[in-house]
Amino acid sequence: VKTGERNASAVDRPIGVFDSGVGGLTVLRALRAALPGESFVYLGDTARLPYGTKTAGTVERYALQAAAQLVDRDIKCLVIACNTASAAALPAIQERFPGLPVIGVIEPGAEAACAATRNERVAVIATEGTVRGGAYQHAIARRRPSVVVTALATQLFVALAEEGWTSGEVALSTARRYLAALFESVPGAQRPDTLVLGCTHFPLLEPCLRAIVGEHVNIVDSAATTATACRMLLATEGLLAVSGASATLQLLVTDGEERFARAGAAFLGTAIAAQDVERVNL
Ligand code: DGL
Repeated sequence: VKTGERNASAVDRPIGVFDSGVGGLTVLRALRAALPGESFVYLGDTARLPYGTKTAGTVERYALQAAAQLVDRDIKCLVIACNTASAAALPAIQERFPGLPVIGVIEPGAEAACAATRNERVAVIATEGTVRGGAYQHAIARRRPSVVVTALATQLFVALAEEGWTSGEVALSTARRYLAALFESVPGAQRPDTLVLGCTHFPLLEPCLRAIVGEHVNIVDSAATTATACRMLLATEGLLAVSGASATLQLLVTDGEERFARAGAAFLGTAIAAQDVERVNL
């Protein structure tokens, strides 16, 4: 079906977005800013967080279940707002749901990194699973093979973000300890000029990371580039919402509505009432 041939109800269906927890709300925030006329249904698989420490097979299974839940809600496209799940499950999701447009966050993140680096040295911080699979290394190498990528698992940042401890002494000393291996202990000429936040939980830690790496390092994440990619995909598929008059936001979790509402507000950039969060079983 080409642009202009879809009927109104098809284009008015929501966009599905999922992550293991509140992290993907950073992507949802960028999506809502770029696509104000669209409805969204967001799922945080909070009962099984973190994904980053699990094996790829387990994350794939969880991600397929999360995607199925959203497909049941009649989504018109799916954004995997989790780097770990994008790395482990994107092909499996595409195969399971043929015809459903699906976007992950790794390719847009790699795009942002390649656009930002001048000295072709890029540092990536992500979960254990994302680093282990080499997803960013491969995605960057496909675009710019001359770029040297150093990736480091900084799994504790996920717990800090879920706890809302994104600034202050604990966040700062954790960041200092992790980032030393990527910056301080690297000789000047080889030091990365770009730091990729390869986990959707990390953007709220940016001020803290900035305080350690300094002003001259580009800090990039995939939220804005993913929103742009989503917009382009919807336009190509003829699925952009016609009018935003009835745009809605549904929030689903697999556990802990209160906790999600409390921690999620800063990520979404707007208050969340726990009674507006629905609990689902996958
Ligand atoms: N926010 C997720 C990511 O982008 C995963 C965090 C986790 O559950 O470990 O990788």
